[in-house]
Amino acid sequence: MIYYFTGNGNSGYVAARIGSYLHDCIEKIGDSTRLCVSAEDNGIGLVFPVYAWGVAPPVTDFINGWTLDDIRRINTEKIPVWAVMTCGDEAGACSDMLIKILGKKGISLAGVWSIIMPNTYVILPGFDVDSHVLAQQKLTSAMGRIKEIGDKIQSCTWETDVWRGSWPRLKTHLVYPLFRRWGINPKKWSKGEECIKCGQCARVCPVDNIRMTPTGPIWGNNCKSCMACYHNCPNHSLEYGKVTVKKGQYRIKDYEL
Ligand SMILES: Cc1cc2nc3c(=O)[nH]c(=O)nc-3n(C[C@H](O)[C@H](O)[C@H](O)COP(=O)(O)O)c2cc1C
Repeated sequence: MIYYFTGNGNSGYVAARIGSYLHDCIEKIGDSTRLCVSAEDNGIGLVFPVYAWGVAPPVTDFINGWTLDDIRRINTEKIPVWAVMTCGDEAGACSDMLIKILGKKGISLAGVWSIIMPNTYVILPGFDVDSHVLAQQKLTSAMGRIKEIGDKIQSCTWETDVWRGSWPRLKTHLVYPLFRRWGINPKKWSKGEECIKCGQCARVCPVDNIRMTPTGPIWGNNCKSCMACYHNCPNHSLEYGKVTVKKGQYRIKDYEL
């Protein structure tokens, strides 16, 4: 079984591709997703985006919900747990963080890979979506990478093959805690005059944190900072303070959120 969290579709797309390659089922990680370990499982996969050089928080919450019974079954039945992390550029020490989270539950990570996908992060000055050409290049090389990783998982060739980038530990240990503390502020999201109140932002939110009202969307406090609402607004009318003004949108083709 492959469990995935996706904000804007990249990781969902990767999970779907690996799932069909391995003939394995996939399940989206939401607030109420529970691990289901069965004797037929030949692996438990985790596919998710890198956030601030660390593990996307919904994935940590999901793992922390694994019960002692689940863990005993994983360990006694020797079910390998593997992970694929999608990132815009570099994963930092995200795999170390994942190993630690699983380690606290008494589970070791069999294999872990990163895949570079188009960037979705836009809410700090200096960060924007990739140019169309760069996004296409990343997607083209991701196709080969997905097949390569699928082959490795199928043949149980476990390894750590992660693009960490420069100063990985520093970035993960310094920036990730700041991101958890300050990086998610749903109060900064607002709709512009072009909002047609179509409800698409509420539909694509992976944690149902947006409520549509007659006057437009209202964000709750459970925002994961995934930016799905921003990128999927058909009129490009959502803003995060003033920082997203003039920034681009990115949606992955052939994937329905
Ligand atoms: C909040 C946030 C933080 C991010 N941090 C990083 C990062 O540290 N390094 C990186 O290379 N990409 C980063 N990205 C880009 C995403 O990891 C990348 O685009 C990923 O494929 C998005 O997956 P998704 O569409 O499944 O959400 C970040 C994106 C978001 C929304």
